[in-house]
Amino acid sequence: MTAPTTPAAQRPRSLDDVKGWFPPLDQVLFERFLARQERLDERGDLLEMGAYLGKSAIFTASFRRPEERFTVCDLFDADAPDEHNAAEARKSYATLTRVAFEQNYRAFHDELPYIVQGPTSEVPAHVRPDSCRFVHVDASHLYEHVAGDIVAARAVLLPHGVVALDDFRSEHTPGVAAATWEAVFNGGLRPICLSTQKLYGTWGDPEPFQEELLATTEWRAGLRMSVQEVGGQRILRFSGRPEHPATAPVSRFAGEAPAEPAAAPAAAPRPAPRPAPVRAGRRVARELLPPIVTRALRKRRAERARTR
Ligand SMILES: C[S@@+](CC[C@H](N)C(=O)[O-])C[C@H]1O[C@@H](n2cnc3c(N)ncnc32)[C@H](O)[C@@H]1O
Repeated sequence: MTAPTTPAAQRPRSLDDVKGWFPPLDQVLFERFLARQERLDERGDLLEMGAYLGKSAIFTASFRRPEERFTVCDLFDADAPDEHNAAEARKSYATLTRVAFEQNYRAFHDELPYIVQGPTSEVPAHVRPDSCRFVHVDASHLYEHVAGDIVAARAVLLPHGVVALDDFRSEHTPGVAAATWEAVFNGGLRPICLSTQKLYGTWGDPEPFQEELLATTEWRAGLRMSVQEVGGQRILRFSGRPEHPATAPVSRFAGEAPAEPAAAPAAAPRPAPRPAPVRAGRRVARELLPPIVTRALRKRRAERARTR
């Protein structure tokens, strides 16, 4: 089947062009956890609850091995399951559509993920228990929903699996904080580390993850780190902006000139825009097929993970 034509407005030239909430610090931490699993040959599927326009999903997908499934669950333009959730969606995600997500995603990857369009309560019907190595919980930020998402994450995660819980401490998301710490104190979740925005944890043993994060230093350049203890559990805390950004997947539109802003009505004719200079790296990126790019990135990442 031919991929739908992508209108100029949805031709992200890099991950930075995809709107969303996935800061550099979390990109680096996702890379640490996912590249570690790659290095240790730990297999398993990937799951994201709450994708919006695809920023974190596009990044996560570059770590999917061919035999692994990446499931993405989002309401997109479907109805929310209750009025509170609908109000949350109207306020924060009014312009979201599944088409926009898919167009962004296809800019970086040949194949779409397995998409569950609907509330996250449908995830258990689509994702097998004990099948995932990484789960990102970033859908509704209301307590009842997040608490359910954490229960679902626990059921699908393998013992070596990692969960990332978004907005566990923001002022405007007390429901996520409540559900997160409830899972820590009553639900067996063991925190590994915190970023400004996310808590990373496991239902397995957090120590090997923590020891590795502590032992390797180059990736932490530019970051502040502290070692905290909560209820007898060690938690590493990272903040700041990483000096070495994560290796983001490359867009098939990487070499294109930026989209022109909409023309002002009845203005005098303007000279045709000059194409942006294409740097050698960009040109190579545009000419290579994404699977090749993905393999090269993976190799580079594995090398970086070994040496840092
Ligand atoms: C914060 S955004 C996700 C951000 C995204 N991970 C990124 O990298 O930019 C939250 C997403 O959750 C979705 N969402 C909200 N409530 C949901 C629910 N009950 N079930 C599934 N998705 C939901 C919204 O449609 C929105 O796309």
